[in-house]
Amino acid sequence: MMAEYHIRAFEDRDHEAVRTIFSDGAAEYVPVGCWHVLRCPQIHLQLLAVFLVAYVVSASFLFSCGVVATFWVTGWMRMKGVWAEYTQAALVRDMLDIRKTYLEPKDCCLWVATSGEEVVGMVAAVHPEDPSQWGKALELKRMSVAKGHRGRGLSKALTRTVICFAQERGYKGVVLSTSMLQYAAQRVYEGMGFRKVKAESPSLLAKLLQFHMYYYHYEIAGSH
Ligand SMILES: CC(C)(COP(=O)(O)OP(=O)(O)OC[C@H]1O[C@@H](n2cnc3c(N)ncnc32)[C@H](O)[C@@H]1OP(=O)(O)O)[C@@H](O)C(=O)NCCC(=O)NCCS
Repeated sequence: MMAEYHIRAFEDRDHEAVRTIFSDGAAEYVPVGCWHVLRCPQIHLQLLAVFLVAYVVSASFLFSCGVVATFWVTGWMRMKGVWAEYTQAALVRDMLDIRKTYLEPKDCCLWVATSGEEVVGMVAAVHPEDPSQWGKALELKRMSVAKGHRGRGLSKALTRTVICFAQERGYKGVVLSTSMLQYAAQRVYEGMGFRKVKAESPSLLAKLLQFHMYYYHYEIAGSH
């Protein structure tokens, strides 16, 4: 399967394709996040409370259902907004001048996976956000594979590219973070030997919604 794919360093002509693959991958998590929130017990309690208050005030079942629906739609729109803000922030920050962010700094890179001339996947290696890992590990970021090319081992190959890159430069490990909603990504990383080292809610709202970020570490063999 992998024979039809080729992994190489980013070139300027890949700019738009890379930004599209990144934002399409991120957008997939809006419905997943919505489903997560719907299953969250705290949200069930809040919606029940809203329903009861509306019912006490109006004595109308239909009206109370409408109020609950309005709450739900507002929450959904807000969540869509949060993901859109996250994607937009990345597009105007590190994904704006990709060469400058990912190709010019020492020990950083962004790779694309291609099928013929088409860019179908991407991944990057950068210095970790966590200062305690500086000089020890590189961080894997911006992993994404276009929908029509999934399930063929591409993300595994891209992850291996980052691990080899870090190993060749003498780093002891590779770190990364992903969200609890990104099930496929967790399967990929855990299947490749990454160990989950921390789970953390990024904000109070996230805590209320039982939303966690997962932090992973991969120890490069023989690096003790
Ligand atoms: C996560 C993602 C990169 C996986 O890409 P992929 O090329 O399809 O993954 P691979 O084909 O290399 O699969 C590797 C392993 O993960 C498993 N896997 C992949 N997608 C899966 C899914 N949706 N559900 C369960 N397991 C899955 C595969 O079964 C495979 O394991 P196996 O070799 O034991 O069978 C892709 O789904 C994606 O781009 N998602 C959107 C963006 C994203 O979430 N990025 C991660 C940011 S941290």
